[in-house]
Amino acid sequence: MCGIVGYIGDREATPILVNGLRLLEYRGYDSAGVSVWDKGESRVVRCRGKLSALEELLKEQPTSGKLGIGHTRWATHGRPSDENAHPHKVDGISVVHNGIIENHLALRQKLIDEGAKFTSETDTEIFAHLIHREVEKHKQSASLTEAVRAALKLVHGTYAIVVMNDSDPNSFVAAKNASPLVVGVGEGENYVASDITAILNETRRMIFIDEGEIVTITREGVTISDFDGKEINREAKTITWSATQAEKAGYRHFMLKEIHEQPRAVADTLAGRVDLEHDNVVLDGIDIDTKNIQRVIMLACGTSYHAALVGKFLLEGMARIPTEVDLASEFRYRDPIVRKTDLVVAISQSGETADTMAAIREAKDKGATILAISNVLDSSIPRLSHHAFYTHAGPEIGVASTKAFTTQLIALVLLAIYLGRRTDALSVPRARELLAELVAIPNKMADVVAQAAQLQVMARRYGTAKGFLFLGRGNQFPIALEGALKLKEISYIHAEGYAAGEMKHGPIALIDANLPVVVLVPEGPNYEKVVSNLAEVRAREGKVLAIATLGDADIGKDADDVVMIPKTVPELQPILTTLPLQLLAYHVADFKGTDIDQPRNLAKSVTVE
Ligand code: AGP
Repeated sequence: MCGIVGYIGDREATPILVNGLRLLEYRGYDSAGVSVWDKGESRVVRCRGKLSALEELLKEQPTSGKLGIGHTRWATHGRPSDENAHPHKVDGISVVHNGIIENHLALRQKLIDEGAKFTSETDTEIFAHLIHREVEKHKQSASLTEAVRAALKLVHGTYAIVVMNDSDPNSFVAAKNASPLVVGVGEGENYVASDITAILNETRRMIFIDEGEIVTITREGVTISDFDGKEINREAKTITWSATQAEKAGYRHFMLKEIHEQPRAVADTLAGRVDLEHDNVVLDGIDIDTKNIQRVIMLACGTSYHAALVGKFLLEGMARIPTEVDLASEFRYRDPIVRKTDLVVAISQSGETADTMAAIREAKDKGATILAISNVLDSSIPRLSHHAFYTHAGPEIGVASTKAFTTQLIALVLLAIYLGRRTDALSVPRARELLAELVAIPNKMADVVAQAAQLQVMARRYGTAKGFLFLGRGNQFPIALEGALKLKEISYIHAEGYAAGEMKHGPIALIDANLPVVVLVPEGPNYEKVVSNLAEVRAREGKVLAIATLGDADIGKDADDVVMIPKTVPELQPILTTLPLQLLAYHVADFKGTDIDQPRNLAKSVTVE
């Protein structure tokens, strides 16, 4: 997501901050800024655009000081703009923040009622107001650390924040809950950053900050405490990673890093949207007149199209609205029938896919209501649409989509619950059950991703095969398609995704001892039928790799290899079954030595029709 750098020492802070932020540039961002303690107060210089734009601005408005914080922003709340760029300053308090405040709407309203004036659309500005309010309340008696601690007690969400106070040129304070934060230890100078990459050129001695910790940083030292004020002792570790290894957080490829980031990306996409108290979901700024909607048409390409195919099951199942799914690249070339009573859901990770844009224009011209699901705030597709739902996966650098896909699935579950509750097709007890399962899903995803080593062994065993078949039924059929696409994209091995029941109508001819067949067989209404399909593969000597549910004691008898997913409701199973397929594709490609993050002939965002 966003990048943070902070410095205190005897050198000029601004170049250290800008250089650090530059080392985080590869992650993508839309605006940048610094706040530097300069002759009695901190001066904020920030703007929309790249670091080069910030550097130009710094030539006009130079800052000189030995304490400062800097930030590159990837927009989540509020469009990319000068005003929304960090740092945010309220009186003497400057703040930079990575992450999401879940209760931002309620806190913002409360602060406004108390007289606070907001100058940005961000959730981050809430931190600056809350901390300023605490500092004012206690004046001389409380330290910045205590003010931060008191403010954090009011905030729910994920964050790494760094805070400076104009009245103290000798320290700054950082805190962490879920978003990464590391302190770099120097001689008479110290650093803070969201990733070690940003400060690895300055020091190799790092202290990793844990959940629920606050750290006070001076020139001479670092004091860590928990949210209750208890001091924590932690030694610095010496990092031996190269800069390139550090960019990938020690993973061999961005794709592998992004696979492992999925539990966090999903938690961020859920943040602030699940209302357990009212058994409902909260979709900021989206207000669809469901009385007027008779049909949903989903439009997307590639992996996003596979998310849409899962979405059909979700929307029809929970909201009982007839749903069609179309490849955006086909839709506009067949004079589609679109009515004013249609809701078009356009799904695009990048928000820039030309085929999807063209299809939206066609539907919009014919009077449909358009809702975009995208990972990039203010990108072309959400701008072209009437409503936008943003996933919070953070920038995805590997060309093969992983965390963008699972967060799209989450967006579709939330949308289905939203529509189902509005139309009353989804009962309150069922909504309650689904929401409880949703909240538990990030931890279950982490359990699946933790089986990476097993998938690596399987990849070595089957990585020399000439082709793969992926089978699934119902909402697992789109996951079979996605598994095959992932493998093709990065390993260049031919793979087909097939509806398991269709196998006997043709692809069964392919099966022999040399064909690995990945069978998605989680518990649920289709289980018995898929087990029969699996037996058909086995009877022809095909190699069966089964993805089944924990506790399924029988599946091992019919499969050569089994990967288990935790139990969940069938609606959410695709979010879990897709993870072993991503890992399998990754490890097969790694075994073959292909260019995993930038596979041949592919681009991250396809802006030509
Ligand atoms: C995914 O792994 C692919 N690289 C590709 O299929 C992608 O999903 C497709 O091009 C659509 O992109 P979008 O989601 O940005 O619109």
